[in-house]
Amino acid sequence: MKKKILLLGSGELGKEFVIAAQRLGQHVIAVDSYDDAPAMQVAQEKEIINMLDGDLLDQVVAKHKPDLIVPEIEAIRTERFYEYEKQGFQVVPSAKAANFTMNRKSIRDLASKQLGLPTAKYLYASSEEELKKAVRELGFPCVVKPLMSSSGKGQSVIKNEDDISKAWEASQTKGRASGAEVIVEEFIRFESEITLLTVTQKNGKVLFCPPIGHRQERGDYQESWQPTDISETQLKEAQSMAEAVTRELTGAGIWGVEFFLCTDKVYFSELSPRPHDTGMVTLAGTQNFNEFELHLRAILGIPIPEITLERKGASAVILSSTDGKIPEVTGLDVAAGMPESDFRIFGKPVTRPYRRMGVALAYSGKNEEISSLRKRAVLLASKIKAN
Ligand SMILES: Nc1ncnc2c1ncn2[C@@H]1O[C@H](COP(=O)(O)OP(=O)(O)O)[C@@H](O)[C@H]1O
Ligand SMILES: [Mg+2]
Repeated sequence: MKKKILLLGSGELGKEFVIAAQRLGQHVIAVDSYDDAPAMQVAQEKEIINMLDGDLLDQVVAKHKPDLIVPEIEAIRTERFYEYEKQGFQVVPSAKAANFTMNRKSIRDLASKQLGLPTAKYLYASSEEELKKAVRELGFPCVVKPLMSSSGKGQSVIKNEDDISKAWEASQTKGRASGAEVIVEEFIRFESEITLLTVTQKNGKVLFCPPIGHRQERGDYQESWQPTDISETQLKEAQSMAEAVTRELTGAGIWGVEFFLCTDKVYFSELSPRPHDTGMVTLAGTQNFNEFELHLRAILGIPIPEITLERKGASAVILSSTDGKIPEVTGLDVAAGMPESDFRIFGKPVTRPYRRMGVALAYSGKNEEISSLRKRAVLLASKIKAN
């Protein structure tokens, strides 16, 4: 059952996915816009193209005729996926899922209007004027995001009248398209936020990973831990929402479904139809299969009977701080000296301020508190420098 997998996006999540695929004897062609991207370092073949260019994408698909097309990022001309599906290629998890989730508007309207899931109140705006109007309606503070962006790019919180112009400007220059519409959301003062990794199978029931807690800065993940505290009732609510939205989007694979938890309410926030960055905590051996192995098994149709929690874990990101090339990684000896811990270095050839270069992991099979695991992961991350 050797399959040809075309991986669209070759970052750190793609790299771990390829490693999982290699372990099961698969053939991977890793694609990205730059050479020597993390996943390319472990795949059999590579292609360097701009994946927002539909014609180039068509050419790569026609050249390799893959059994599976696996998107790892959102910035892809996903409209073409419907055509690939018609031609008989398996798009993961489905053309609809990839296409709907690349645009905040389609996924939010589907979740809120079509499925009736509770979300933050939201409006859209296509100009600074419209943004002002939307802010007046939603009140301060509120959050502005480009419709097409990820990792918090172009996203800002508007706290007062003066912030509106800046927020509009940021949304236009940092998103994937300029002159574009934005979503404005009511700011939710949540107690915590979680990622519920959800696995849909070809022939088998929907499975849920133990909930992952995480902390974000600048709209980007800094640390995550598993499991996280949540009441049984709220977990059930989140699971049923995750099941509803993944069923609607169709297809097999792992999904990172994000929720905001308030004392009296669970809000659906967004989802990605692929392994999630906060799910890197599963690399700490928290589960019987990590999120990449689960994704691979689900898309290949290999049955997954159950997902079990093996031990507690925490992850913390290792960021670079400057613009540079071929970073030198230091501090690994100190980090490696710490018990019940581990790390991954992604091997990215170029650094930028706040670019994720690696991840530090801490775990415990005993009774260590999550708060202590988090501290260990953050301490470990601080020892490793990549610049
Ligand atoms: N409406 C909101 N209220 C409060 N915090 C928010 C809201 N929307 C986003 N955030 C914060 O910003 C983070 C990133 O936002 P998200 O919508 O997940 O964007 P991205 O697609 O870039 O991950 C969230 O995980 C959360 O911490
Ligand atoms: Mg998110």
